[in-house]
Amino acid sequence: MNLKEKGEYHMTQPVKIGIIGAGFAGAFHLRSYRQVQRVPVEVTAIAGKTKTRAENLAKRYNVLNYYDDYRYILDDPSIQVVDIVVPNALHLPMVLEAARAGKHIICEKPLTGYFGQGEPDDEVGATPKRKMLEKVREDLENVRAVMAANQVKFCYAENWIHAPSFRKGLELMEKCFATGSILEIRGDESHSGSHAEYAKYWRHAGGGAMARLAAHPIAAGLFLKQYEGEKRDGRPIVAKEVWADATDLTKTEAFAHAKDSPLVTGWQDVETWSQLTVTFTDGTKGIFFGTDDLLGGMESEMDIRLTNSRVKFALCSVRDCQFYIVDPAPVEDVYFNEKQETKAGLSFPNPDEEWTLGYPHEIQDFMEAIVYDRDPLTGLDLAMQLVEVLYAGYVSCEEGRRISLE
Ligand SMILES: NC(=O)c1ccc[n+]([C@@H]2O[C@H](COP(=O)([O-])OP(=O)(O)OC[C@H]3O[C@@H](n4cnc5c(N)ncnc54)[C@H](O)[C@@H]3O)[C@@H](O)[C@H]2O)c1
Repeated sequence: MNLKEKGEYHMTQPVKIGIIGAGFAGAFHLRSYRQVQRVPVEVTAIAGKTKTRAENLAKRYNVLNYYDDYRYILDDPSIQVVDIVVPNALHLPMVLEAARAGKHIICEKPLTGYFGQGEPDDEVGATPKRKMLEKVREDLENVRAVMAANQVKFCYAENWIHAPSFRKGLELMEKCFATGSILEIRGDESHSGSHAEYAKYWRHAGGGAMARLAAHPIAAGLFLKQYEGEKRDGRPIVAKEVWADATDLTKTEAFAHAKDSPLVTGWQDVETWSQLTVTFTDGTKGIFFGTDDLLGGMESEMDIRLTNSRVKFALCSVRDCQFYIVDPAPVEDVYFNEKQETKAGLSFPNPDEEWTLGYPHEIQDFMEAIVYDRDPLTGLDLAMQLVEVLYAGYVSCEEGRRISLE
Protein backbone atom coordinates (compact mmCIF):
# COMPACT_ATOMS: atom_id res chain seq x y z
CA MET A 1 0.00 0.00 0.00
CA ASN A 2 1.43 3.41 -0.85
CA LEU A 3 1.42 6.41 1.47
CA LYS A 4 -1.57 7.85 -0.37
CA GLU A 5 -3.70 4.75 0.21
CA LYS A 6 -2.56 4.49 3.82
CA GLY A 7 -3.94 7.99 4.29
CA GLU A 8 -0.46 9.17 5.29
CA TYR A 9 0.23 11.23 2.22
CA HIS A 10 -1.56 13.83 0.12
CA MET A 11 0.30 15.62 -2.70
CA THR A 12 -0.16 18.90 -0.87
CA GLN A 13 1.46 17.43 2.25
CA PRO A 14 5.17 16.79 2.20
CA VAL A 15 6.75 13.42 2.91
CA LYS A 16 8.40 13.95 6.30
CA ILE A 17 11.93 12.75 6.88
CA GLY A 18 14.14 12.45 9.95
CA ILE A 19 17.90 12.19 9.42
CA ILE A 20 20.06 10.28 11.90
CA GLY A 21 23.67 11.46 11.64
CA ALA A 22 24.90 15.03 11.43
CA GLY A 23 28.21 14.64 9.60
CA PHE A 24 29.57 14.70 6.05
CA ALA A 25 26.98 12.38 4.47
CA GLY A 26 24.13 13.92 6.50
CA ALA A 27 24.94 17.26 4.87
CA PHE A 28 24.91 15.97 1.28
CA HIS A 29 21.69 14.07 1.90
CA LEU A 30 20.15 17.33 3.17
CA ARG A 31 21.23 19.18 0.04
CA SER A 32 19.77 16.37 -2.08
CA TYR A 33 16.32 16.62 -0.44
CA ARG A 34 16.29 20.28 -1.49
CA GLN A 35 16.54 19.18 -5.13
CA VAL A 36 13.68 16.65 -5.12
CA GLN A 37 11.16 17.44 -7.85
CA ARG A 38 7.44 16.62 -8.20
CA VAL A 39 7.21 15.08 -4.70
CA PRO A 40 6.94 17.57 -1.81
CA VAL A 41 9.40 16.58 0.92
CA GLU A 42 10.39 18.08 4.26
CA VAL A 43 13.28 17.13 6.52
CA THR A 44 11.70 17.83 9.89
CA ALA A 45 14.37 16.55 12.28
CA ILE A 46 18.07 15.71 12.59
CA ALA A 47 19.58 13.59 15.34
CA GLY A 48 23.31 13.65 16.03
CA LYS A 49 25.59 12.15 18.62
CA THR A 50 25.53 15.53 20.35
CA LYS A 51 22.81 18.16 20.23
CA THR A 52 25.32 20.80 19.14
CA ARG A 53 26.28 18.87 16.00
CA ALA A 54 22.64 18.26 15.13
CA GLU A 55 21.78 21.90 15.81
CA ASN A 56 24.61 23.22 13.64
CA LEU A 57 23.44 21.21 10.67
CA ALA A 58 19.75 21.88 11.35
CA LYS A 59 20.31 25.65 11.45
CA ARG A 60 22.31 25.57 8.21
CA TYR A 61 19.47 23.84 6.39
CA ASN A 62 16.41 25.28 8.20
CA VAL A 63 15.43 22.03 9.88
CA LEU A 64 13.07 22.71 12.79
CA ASN A 65 13.94 19.92 15.23
CA TYR A 66 17.31 18.62 16.38
CA TYR A 67 18.11 15.99 18.95
CA ASP A 68 20.97 14.13 20.61
CA ASP A 69 18.92 10.92 20.62
CA TYR A 70 17.58 9.35 17.43
CA ARG A 71 14.70 7.74 19.34
CA TYR A 72 12.88 11.09 19.23
CA ILE A 73 12.74 10.60 15.46
CA LEU A 74 11.47 7.03 15.77
CA ASP A 75 8.82 8.15 18.29
CA ASP A 76 7.53 11.00 16.11
CA PRO A 77 4.39 9.70 14.34
CA SER A 78 4.53 12.48 11.73
CA ILE A 79 7.89 11.22 10.38
CA GLN A 80 7.46 8.60 7.64
CA VAL A 81 11.07 8.14 6.51
CA VAL A 82 14.23 7.65 8.55
CA ASP A 83 17.50 8.39 6.75
CA ILE A 84 20.48 6.65 8.41
CA VAL A 85 23.84 8.37 7.83
CA VAL A 86 25.85 7.33 10.88
CA PRO A 87 29.04 5.23 11.23
CA ASN A 88 28.62 1.73 9.79
CA ALA A 89 28.38 -0.17 13.09
CA LEU A 90 25.16 1.70 13.87
CA HIS A 91 23.39 1.00 10.57
CA LEU A 92 21.89 -2.40 11.35
CA PRO A 93 20.55 -1.71 14.88
CA MET A 94 18.99 1.53 13.64
CA VAL A 95 17.53 -0.16 10.54
CA LEU A 96 15.89 -2.82 12.72
CA GLU A 97 14.50 -0.25 15.15
CA ALA A 98 13.22 2.00 12.38
CA ALA A 99 11.49 -0.93 10.62
CA ARG A 100 9.83 -1.98 13.87
CA ALA A 101 8.71 1.62 14.36
CA GLY A 102 6.99 1.41 10.94
CA LYS A 103 9.28 3.93 9.21
CA HIS A 104 10.53 3.66 5.65
CA ILE A 105 14.31 3.48 5.63
CA ILE A 106 17.13 5.04 3.66
CA CYS A 107 20.46 3.51 4.66
CA GLU A 108 23.99 4.52 3.68
CA LYS A 109 26.48 1.87 2.59
CA PRO A 110 27.24 -0.75 3.75
CA LEU A 111 24.06 -2.16 5.29
CA THR A 112 26.09 -3.94 7.95
CA GLY A 113 29.33 -5.76 8.75
CA TYR A 114 31.21 -7.38 11.60
CA PHE A 115 31.87 -4.98 14.47
CA GLY A 116 32.89 -7.31 17.30
CA GLN A 117 31.21 -9.58 19.78
CA GLY A 118 33.00 -8.68 22.98
CA GLU A 119 36.58 -8.47 21.63
CA PRO A 120 38.60 -5.47 22.90
CA ASP A 121 37.95 -2.54 20.53
CA ASP A 122 41.43 -2.60 19.01
CA GLU A 123 41.32 -6.35 18.33
CA VAL A 124 38.11 -6.59 16.34
CA GLY A 125 39.99 -6.53 13.02
CA ALA A 126 42.00 -9.58 14.12
CA THR A 127 38.89 -11.76 14.51
CA PRO A 128 38.99 -14.79 12.17
CA LYS A 129 37.20 -13.73 9.01
CA ARG A 130 35.22 -17.00 8.83
CA LYS A 131 33.64 -16.03 12.15
CA MET A 132 32.89 -12.59 10.72
CA LEU A 133 31.23 -14.09 7.65
CA GLU A 134 29.07 -16.42 9.76
CA LYS A 135 27.94 -13.54 11.98
CA VAL A 136 27.07 -11.22 9.09
CA ARG A 137 25.11 -14.05 7.43
CA GLU A 138 23.06 -14.44 10.64
CA ASP A 139 22.50 -10.68 10.79
CA LEU A 140 21.40 -10.62 7.15
CA GLU A 141 18.84 -13.36 7.76
CA ASN A 142 17.54 -11.38 10.72
CA VAL A 143 17.22 -8.14 8.78
CA ARG A 144 15.41 -9.94 5.97
CA ALA A 145 12.90 -11.37 8.48
CA VAL A 146 12.35 -8.03 10.20
CA MET A 147 11.86 -6.20 6.92
CA ALA A 148 9.40 -8.85 5.75
CA ALA A 149 7.41 -8.56 8.98
CA ASN A 150 7.17 -4.77 8.75
CA GLN A 151 5.73 -3.43 5.53
CA VAL A 152 8.26 -0.64 5.02
CA LYS A 153 10.59 0.21 2.16
CA PHE A 154 14.32 -0.25 2.41
CA CYS A 155 16.26 2.13 0.15
CA TYR A 156 19.96 1.39 -0.16
CA ALA A 157 21.92 4.58 -0.75
CA GLU A 158 24.40 3.31 -3.34
CA ASN A 159 24.90 6.52 -5.29
CA TRP A 160 26.96 4.93 -8.12
CA ILE A 161 23.88 3.21 -9.51
CA HIS A 162 21.89 6.45 -9.54
CA ALA A 163 24.67 8.60 -11.00
CA PRO A 164 23.82 10.10 -14.44
CA SER A 165 26.85 8.57 -16.18
CA PHE A 166 26.02 5.09 -14.82
CA ARG A 167 22.38 5.46 -15.85
CA LYS A 168 23.39 6.53 -19.36
CA GLY A 169 25.68 3.50 -19.60
CA LEU A 170 22.83 1.30 -18.39
CA GLU A 171 20.47 2.70 -21.04
CA LEU A 172 23.05 1.84 -23.70
CA MET A 173 23.85 -1.61 -22.33
CA GLU A 174 20.18 -2.49 -22.06
CA LYS A 175 20.01 -2.22 -25.86
CA CYS A 176 23.14 -4.36 -26.23
CA PHE A 177 21.97 -7.18 -23.92
CA ALA A 178 19.66 -8.64 -26.61
CA THR A 179 22.69 -9.84 -28.59
CA GLY A 180 25.57 -9.34 -26.16
CA SER A 181 26.84 -10.11 -22.66
CA ILE A 182 29.08 -8.35 -20.17
CA LEU A 183 32.34 -10.31 -20.12
CA GLU A 184 34.32 -8.18 -17.71
CA ILE A 185 33.73 -5.26 -15.35
CA ARG A 186 36.62 -3.24 -13.91
CA GLY A 187 35.67 -0.79 -11.18
CA ASP A 188 37.62 1.43 -8.83
CA GLU A 189 36.95 3.97 -6.10
CA SER A 190 40.06 5.54 -4.66
CA HIS A 191 41.20 8.65 -2.83
CA SER A 192 43.75 9.74 -0.24
CA GLY A 193 41.89 8.46 2.84
CA SER A 194 38.71 9.06 4.81
CA HIS A 195 38.04 12.31 6.69
CA ALA A 196 36.18 10.30 9.37
CA GLU A 197 38.14 9.05 12.41
CA TYR A 198 35.80 6.11 12.91
CA ALA A 199 36.86 4.73 9.50
CA LYS A 200 40.26 3.81 10.96
CA TYR A 201 38.76 1.21 13.30
CA TRP A 202 37.24 -2.12 12.27
CA ARG A 203 35.10 -1.87 15.43
CA HIS A 204 33.21 1.08 13.89
CA ALA A 205 33.71 0.68 10.14
CA GLY A 206 33.49 -3.13 9.72
CA GLY A 207 36.57 -3.17 7.50
CA GLY A 208 38.81 -0.80 5.59
CA ALA A 209 39.08 0.33 1.98
CA MET A 210 37.20 -2.74 0.71
CA ALA A 211 34.09 -2.16 2.85
CA ARG A 212 34.28 1.64 2.54
CA LEU A 213 35.42 2.25 -1.06
CA ALA A 214 35.33 -0.95 -3.13
CA ALA A 215 31.77 -1.37 -1.77
CA HIS A 216 30.66 1.12 -4.45
CA PRO A 217 32.01 -0.55 -7.62
CA ILE A 218 31.26 -4.04 -6.26
CA ALA A 219 27.61 -3.08 -5.68
CA ALA A 220 27.49 -1.51 -9.14
CA GLY A 221 28.97 -4.69 -10.67
CA LEU A 222 26.50 -6.95 -8.82
CA PHE A 223 23.65 -4.71 -9.95
CA LEU A 224 24.77 -4.79 -13.59
CA LYS A 225 25.11 -8.55 -13.93
CA GLN A 226 21.80 -9.10 -12.13
CA TYR A 227 20.13 -6.57 -14.43
CA GLU A 228 21.66 -8.17 -17.52
CA GLY A 229 20.39 -11.64 -16.57
CA GLU A 230 16.91 -10.43 -15.69
CA LYS A 231 16.55 -8.40 -18.90
CA ARG A 232 17.74 -11.17 -21.20
CA ASP A 233 16.53 -14.41 -19.57
CA GLY A 234 14.34 -13.32 -16.65
CA ARG A 235 16.95 -14.81 -14.27
CA PRO A 236 19.57 -12.80 -12.35
CA ILE A 237 23.27 -13.50 -12.84
CA VAL A 238 24.83 -13.44 -9.37
CA ALA A 239 28.23 -13.75 -7.70
CA LYS A 240 29.36 -17.36 -7.35
CA GLU A 241 32.98 -17.03 -6.20
CA VAL A 242 35.18 -14.35 -4.66
CA TRP A 243 38.93 -13.92 -4.60
CA ALA A 244 40.49 -10.94 -2.80
CA ASP A 245 43.62 -9.33 -1.43
CA ALA A 246 44.04 -6.42 0.99
CA THR A 247 46.71 -4.64 3.01
CA ASP A 248 47.50 -1.41 4.84
CA LEU A 249 50.00 0.29 2.52
CA THR A 250 50.84 2.89 5.19
CA LYS A 251 52.41 0.08 7.24
CA THR A 252 54.85 -1.00 4.50
CA GLU A 253 58.60 -0.47 4.39
CA ALA A 254 58.03 1.85 1.41
CA PHE A 255 55.77 4.11 3.45
CA ALA A 256 58.16 4.14 6.41
CA HIS A 257 60.66 6.03 4.19
CA ALA A 258 58.05 8.56 3.06
CA LYS A 259 58.25 12.15 4.23
CA ASP A 260 55.36 14.67 4.22
CA SER A 261 52.90 12.40 2.44
CA PRO A 262 49.41 13.96 2.28
CA LEU A 263 47.90 10.44 2.40
CA VAL A 264 45.82 9.81 5.53
CA THR A 265 47.69 7.76 8.17
CA GLY A 266 46.87 6.37 11.62
CA TRP A 267 44.80 3.42 10.42
CA GLN A 268 44.22 1.07 13.34
CA ASP A 269 43.32 -2.44 12.16
CA VAL A 270 41.89 -1.89 8.67
CA GLU A 271 43.29 -2.11 5.14
CA THR A 272 43.99 0.90 2.93
CA TRP A 273 44.31 -1.11 -0.30
CA SER A 274 41.97 -3.79 -1.56
CA GLN A 275 41.22 -5.79 -4.69
CA LEU A 276 38.30 -8.18 -5.03
CA THR A 277 37.55 -10.39 -8.03
CA VAL A 278 34.07 -11.83 -8.50
CA THR A 279 33.27 -14.77 -10.76
CA PHE A 280 29.61 -14.62 -11.74
CA THR A 281 27.29 -17.58 -12.31
CA ASP A 282 27.71 -17.20 -16.10
CA GLY A 283 31.52 -17.49 -15.75
CA THR A 284 32.23 -13.79 -16.37
CA LYS A 285 34.46 -11.62 -14.18
CA GLY A 286 34.35 -8.42 -12.19
CA ILE A 287 37.51 -6.94 -10.71
CA PHE A 288 37.11 -4.16 -8.19
CA PHE A 289 39.51 -1.88 -6.33
CA GLY A 290 39.07 0.33 -3.29
CA THR A 291 42.18 2.15 -2.18
CA ASP A 292 43.39 5.04 -0.02
CA ASP A 293 46.63 5.58 -1.94
CA LEU A 294 45.51 8.11 -4.55
CA LEU A 295 46.51 11.79 -4.58
CA GLY A 296 44.87 14.45 -6.72
CA GLY A 297 41.20 13.94 -5.77
CA MET A 298 38.73 11.09 -5.68
CA GLU A 299 38.31 8.77 -8.67
CA SER A 300 35.25 6.57 -9.17
CA GLU A 301 35.47 4.78 -12.48
CA MET A 302 34.19 1.74 -14.31
CA ASP A 303 35.12 0.02 -17.57
CA ILE A 304 32.59 -2.54 -18.83
CA ARG A 305 33.56 -4.85 -21.69
CA LEU A 306 30.71 -6.61 -23.49
CA THR A 307 30.83 -9.09 -26.35
CA ASN A 308 29.40 -6.42 -28.66
CA SER A 309 30.27 -3.04 -27.08
CA ARG A 310 32.17 -1.21 -24.35
CA VAL A 311 31.11 1.36 -21.74
CA LYS A 312 33.37 3.50 -19.57
CA PHE A 313 32.28 6.06 -17.04
CA ALA A 314 33.75 8.31 -14.38
CA LEU A 315 31.59 9.74 -11.63
CA CYS A 316 33.74 12.60 -10.43
CA SER A 317 36.85 13.30 -12.47
CA VAL A 318 34.99 15.48 -14.99
CA ARG A 319 36.90 18.05 -17.02
CA ASP A 320 34.15 20.53 -17.85
CA CYS A 321 36.03 23.39 -16.19
CA GLN A 322 39.78 23.94 -16.28
CA PHE A 323 41.63 26.30 -13.92
CA TYR A 324 45.29 27.22 -13.43
CA ILE A 325 46.87 29.24 -10.63
CA VAL A 326 50.33 29.45 -9.08
CA ASP A 327 49.35 30.74 -5.62
CA PRO A 328 45.86 29.44 -4.75
CA ALA A 329 45.25 31.97 -1.92
CA PRO A 330 42.49 33.88 -3.79
CA VAL A 331 40.44 30.68 -4.32
CA GLU A 332 40.99 29.21 -0.87
CA ASP A 333 37.28 29.20 0.01
CA VAL A 334 36.06 27.93 -3.39
CA TYR A 335 35.12 24.22 -3.51
CA PHE A 336 36.96 22.26 -6.22
CA ASN A 337 36.71 18.45 -5.84
CA GLU A 338 36.39 15.87 -3.06
CA LYS A 339 39.80 15.05 -1.53
CA GLN A 340 41.79 17.34 -3.84
CA GLU A 341 44.87 18.18 -1.77
CA THR A 342 45.94 21.42 -3.44
CA LYS A 343 44.43 24.04 -5.72
CA ALA A 344 47.85 25.14 -7.00
CA GLY A 345 48.71 24.38 -10.62
CA LEU A 346 46.25 22.93 -13.12
CA SER A 347 42.85 21.79 -11.75
CA PHE A 348 39.47 20.71 -13.06
CA PRO A 349 36.93 21.97 -10.49
CA ASN A 350 33.70 19.98 -10.82
CA PRO A 351 30.78 22.41 -11.46
CA ASP A 352 28.35 20.11 -9.57
CA GLU A 353 30.09 17.20 -7.92
CA GLU A 354 27.07 15.98 -5.95
CA TRP A 355 25.09 15.81 -9.20
CA THR A 356 27.75 13.79 -11.05
CA LEU A 357 28.00 11.49 -8.01
CA GLY A 358 24.26 10.80 -8.18
CA TYR A 359 23.30 11.96 -4.68
CA PRO A 360 20.20 14.00 -5.69
CA HIS A 361 19.16 11.22 -8.08
CA GLU A 362 19.17 8.53 -5.41
CA ILE A 363 17.07 10.65 -3.04
CA GLN A 364 14.64 11.46 -5.89
CA ASP A 365 14.27 7.73 -6.65
CA PHE A 366 13.69 6.88 -2.98
CA MET A 367 11.04 9.58 -2.52
CA GLU A 368 9.17 8.39 -5.62
CA ALA A 369 9.48 4.73 -4.55
CA ILE A 370 7.93 5.58 -1.18
CA VAL A 371 5.10 7.75 -2.49
CA TYR A 372 4.16 5.55 -5.45
CA ASP A 373 4.81 2.24 -3.65
CA ARG A 374 7.33 0.83 -6.09
CA ASP A 375 10.73 -0.74 -5.46
CA PRO A 376 13.66 1.63 -5.25
CA LEU A 377 16.34 1.03 -7.89
CA THR A 378 18.71 -0.02 -5.09
CA GLY A 379 17.06 -2.02 -2.31
CA LEU A 380 17.55 -4.68 0.34
CA ASP A 381 18.68 -7.56 -1.92
CA LEU A 382 21.56 -5.58 -3.36
CA ALA A 383 22.58 -4.32 0.10
CA MET A 384 22.60 -7.89 1.44
CA GLN A 385 24.48 -9.39 -1.52
CA LEU A 386 27.17 -6.75 -1.18
CA VAL A 387 27.78 -7.52 2.51
CA GLU A 388 28.13 -11.22 1.81
CA VAL A 389 30.55 -10.63 -1.08
CA LEU A 390 32.66 -8.22 1.01
CA TYR A 391 33.02 -10.65 3.90
CA ALA A 392 33.69 -13.59 1.58
CA GLY A 393 36.41 -11.28 0.25
CA TYR A 394 37.88 -10.83 3.72
CA VAL A 395 37.86 -14.62 4.21
CA SER A 396 39.68 -14.96 0.87
CA CYS A 397 42.34 -12.43 1.97
CA GLU A 398 42.97 -14.33 5.19
CA GLU A 399 42.88 -17.86 3.78
CA GLY A 400 44.63 -17.01 0.49
CA ARG A 401 42.13 -18.83 -1.71
CA ARG A 402 38.92 -18.44 -3.68
CA ILE A 403 35.72 -18.52 -1.63
CA SER A 404 32.61 -20.09 -3.08
CA LEU A 405 29.27 -18.42 -2.36
CA GLU A 406 27.18 -21.38 -3.41
N1 LIG B 1 27.69 7.23 -0.53
C1 LIG B 1 28.79 7.91 -0.31
O1 LIG B 1 29.44 8.35 -1.22
C2 LIG B 1 29.21 8.16 1.11
C3 LIG B 1 30.16 9.15 1.38
C4 LIG B 1 30.52 9.37 2.70
C5 LIG B 1 29.95 8.62 3.72
N2 LIG B 1 29.03 7.67 3.42
C6 LIG B 1 28.43 6.84 4.49
O2 LIG B 1 27.73 7.69 5.38
C7 LIG B 1 27.85 7.22 6.72
C8 LIG B 1 28.38 8.35 7.59
O3 LIG B 1 29.65 8.75 7.13
P1 LIG B 1 30.15 10.26 7.26
O4 LIG B 1 31.25 10.43 6.30
O5 LIG B 1 29.01 11.20 7.23
O6 LIG B 1 30.77 10.25 8.74
P2 LIG B 1 30.89 11.48 9.73
O7 LIG B 1 31.82 11.06 10.81
O8 LIG B 1 31.18 12.74 8.97
O9 LIG B 1 29.41 11.63 10.32
C9 LIG B 1 28.79 10.64 11.10
C10 LIG B 1 27.83 11.33 12.04
O10 LIG B 1 27.11 10.37 12.81
C11 LIG B 1 26.94 10.90 14.12
N3 LIG B 1 26.61 9.85 15.08
C12 LIG B 1 27.43 8.96 15.64
N4 LIG B 1 26.75 8.20 16.52
C13 LIG B 1 25.46 8.63 16.49
C14 LIG B 1 24.29 8.25 17.17
N5 LIG B 1 24.28 7.26 18.06
N6 LIG B 1 23.13 8.93 16.91
C15 LIG B 1 23.12 9.92 16.01
N7 LIG B 1 24.22 10.33 15.34
C16 LIG B 1 25.38 9.68 15.59
C17 LIG B 1 28.28 11.56 14.39
O11 LIG B 1 28.20 12.49 15.44
C18 LIG B 1 28.55 12.24 13.05
O12 LIG B 1 27.98 13.52 13.01
C19 LIG B 1 28.78 6.01 6.66
O13 LIG B 1 28.01 4.85 6.70
C20 LIG B 1 29.46 6.11 5.32
O14 LIG B 1 29.75 4.85 4.77
C21 LIG B 1 28.65 7.44 2.14
